[in-house]
This record gives sequence, C-alpha cells and structure tokens, in this order.
Amino acid sequence: MVKLNSVTKGIKGTVLAKVEYFNPGNSMKDRMALKMIEDAEKSGQLKPGGTIIEGTSGNTGMGLALVAIAKGYKCIFTLSDKQSQEKIDVLRAMGAEVIVCPTNVTPDDPRSYYSVAKKLNEEIPNSIYPNQYDNLSNSQAHYETTGPEIWEQTEGKVTHYVAGVGTGGSMCGTAKFLKEKNPNLITVGVDSYGSVFKKYKETGIFDENEIYPYLTEGIGEDILPKNVDFDLIDLFIKVTDKDAAVMTRRLAREEGLFVGWSCGSAVYGALEYAREHLNEEDVMVVILPDHGTRYLGKIYNDTWMKNHGYLGNANFANARDIINKRNGASKLETIDKEATIGEAIAKFNALGVSQLPVVDKDQFVGSVTDSKILNLLIESPELKHSAVKEVMDAPFQFVGLDNTVDVLSSLMNKHNKALLVRDEKNEVHIITQQDLLMAISR
Ligand SMILES: Cc1ncc(COP(=O)(O)O)c(C=O)c1O
Repeated sequence: MVKLNSVTKGIKGTVLAKVEYFNPGNSMKDRMALKMIEDAEKSGQLKPGGTIIEGTSGNTGMGLALVAIAKGYKCIFTLSDKQSQEKIDVLRAMGAEVIVCPTNVTPDDPRSYYSVAKKLNEEIPNSIYPNQYDNLSNSQAHYETTGPEIWEQTEGKVTHYVAGVGTGGSMCGTAKFLKEKNPNLITVGVDSYGSVFKKYKETGIFDENEIYPYLTEGIGEDILPKNVDFDLIDLFIKVTDKDAAVMTRRLAREEGLFVGWSCGSAVYGALEYAREHLNEEDVMVVILPDHGTRYLGKIYNDTWMKNHGYLGNANFANARDIINKRNGASKLETIDKEATIGEAIAKFNALGVSQLPVVDKDQFVGSVTDSKILNLLIESPELKHSAVKEVMDAPFQFVGLDNTVDVLSSLMNKHNKALLVRDEKNEVHIITQQDLLMAISR
C-alpha cells in the first residue's frame, strides 16, 4: 500500500494505492488465476496434463501461465486485437499459445475472443475454460486475499474502496469483505465510456446502443459478467481514455508508480469522487491492477500519445471540442417512436435539421433522416400517417468525448448519418456531417 502525495493535492483525507504489480505476474490477476485453477482441481474438472483455455486481456493469462508452469498444464489464450503487443509477447514468452481475435465484433460472434475460447474448450479433450467473467472463484480470491489485506494494512480505517471494473472480481470480492467489516464503507466502480456498467447500475437498462470501441485495456464491458454484483458497487464514474492515459503518466512521474493504463482510470475516478466527498478522517483505497511495462508502446510513448491527441497542445479536434463550440446552444431534438411520419416531416422543417434520433422514453431506439422519408413518401404517400417506428433505421452510434475527428469521420457513413455523444453531465448531443465538415475545415 502506497500513499499518494502529489496527484492528491487539495484533497481532504488520505488516498492509498494498493499496488498490485508486486505480485509475481506483475498484476492482481495472479490471485484469481491461482484460485480458479485450484477450485477446478478440487472439483475434478481439471486433471493432470490438462489444457487451460481462457479469453484474457493479458494479465489473467500471465497469472494462469505461472500457475500452469508450476502445476504442469498447457495454456491457450484468446485476446482481442486492441491489446498491447507487449502483453501478447509476454504470454508467448511464458510458453502459452496466443490467438488474437477482432475487437469490433459482438461477444456472440463466432470470431469474438469469448466464442473462440469456448469452441476450443469444446474441441480439445481434457481442457477447461475457467471463464474469468462468470467464474465466481475470481471474486472469491479477492474476498479471501485482497479484502483482508486492505483491512489489515489500513488497521480497519478504510472508508472508501475504488476499483476499475472489468470482470468485477477485484471490485466485488474485495467490496464484499470490506462491507462485511464496515457496512458504511463506500465503493466506487470506475467504468469506461463505451461500456455498459454505469447506465445499467443507474437505470437497470442494458443499452447496446451505448457500446462503442474504446482503448483503455481491462475495464468496462459489453456484457454483464456474473462477478459484477451491482449491489456491492455504490456508484460508477466513467473516465475517458485520454484522462486515464494522462493520469497514468502523472502516477509514474509524480508518485514513482510505474503502473498500467487502467490504474490511471482508477485514480482519476477516485480523485473525482474524493474532491467532492472525502473528509479529513476518510481513508480511500484505490487498487492499481498492473505494471507499466505492458504499455510502453502506447501511453508511455510520446509519439503514440501525440498521434492520439493526448499530449501537449496537439491540435486534434475531438467530439468534446465540437459540442463545446456550441456553447450549450444545442438541445438534443428527438422524435418519439409512436409519432407519425407527418409529424417527423413537420419537425425536420421547423428545426431545419436533416436527421432525428428516435426515442422510446429515454432510450434511443432508432433514427430517421429527411432524405429517406422523402423517398418513402414519393413511393407511398399514405405512409404519412404511419408511425415513425415502422420506417426508422438503426439508432445512431454513440462515440466517446475524446474520439478525434478522424475516428468520427470513419464512423460516419451511409448507414450512420450522425453520431451521439454523452457528456460528463450525462447529457446526449448529436454530431452531424455538417459538424464534421466544419471541424475539418477549421
Ligand atoms: C489492467 C486491468 N485493469 C483492470 C482490470 C479489471 O479488473 P476485474 O476484472 O477484477 O474487474 C483488469 C481485468 O482484466 C485488467 O487486466
């Protein structure tokens, strides 16, 4: 446990980092890897000489590879292609077979790293698929080790626990233990923009429309893993890729903690909460999952940081710049799915817009454009009285606040005439082709 002294300036109370790179595999995942394998041995699922197959962003793979070496198992890991090359190289160095799968496919797509791992498990005899997402040995490992360590190391003074949430194991296992010891303890889960957790916690809605690609590795999900127990997480805070990357570099330079990207997310989220809510006597513990070596080619590389618009005064306009330029003048206009096409046309005319998101209460369920409606009406004028829901297209895609104009342009196409972005205050804004043209020509 290391006290943060510099990035915490101006914050009341004590903020302690539980630095997990001291584990032999340089990440907290060693804890749950050992537990998942020992539980599989106890239940008879895993027999001597067996093969461990797992979908992993790298750290769980490292933990499993170490356990496999010690106990004589073979390992095959599936990874998504957004993972850093360093993580892939390390797993291969530890004797594992690594299969790289595409990121931008749904979890049930046969090419996804979840599906490939499951299929291999079905085909290879004497193999197990621990499935860190739904295997409760994962959170149990943190209930048995991380929680008690934090309790002892703070001498029972911990009042807040903050963790990035991926599978949910390190948040929920630890939270369960600490809340049993101190029912008033507050837990803050850190989520990524583009992930489903925060909205699900706040509304109970699993909103597929808000899933979009982001870069931070390890936290946020497009599924609801069984290890995430939402009752144990008091609130979620979302952190952008850029804010996380910049904070991670500050942790290295100002605190001497050479940690991974999701550590920046966790600390950024922790400080956002602490600034408003922490009192002098409070003790907040933030878990820092892994080591910086795995990100040398990304957030610790200045060229990479500049190319992503994350460093210095780089002149990369992003979604945030586009909506800020409007100075709050843009209330999002929508149309209800039950409205008639005639009403949609009236709205296009009155507002002078060419597209509208279609809503069902506060859910984005579709989209309509004036050109499509015009074409439909030329063919069948009687459609004027039909409901918008009968003719609408898929909802506009959500993007992140720090997605650059390049990324936004590549997402805007004939199927996606506009994009949606949620700001820090949870308000949704639209970005149109016109907005992009102005941003590019500026
Ligand atoms: C670097 C990193 N940070 C955070 C997490 C999230 O931890 P958990 O899966 O316990 O929720 C992971 C999990 O893969 C990770 O690899």
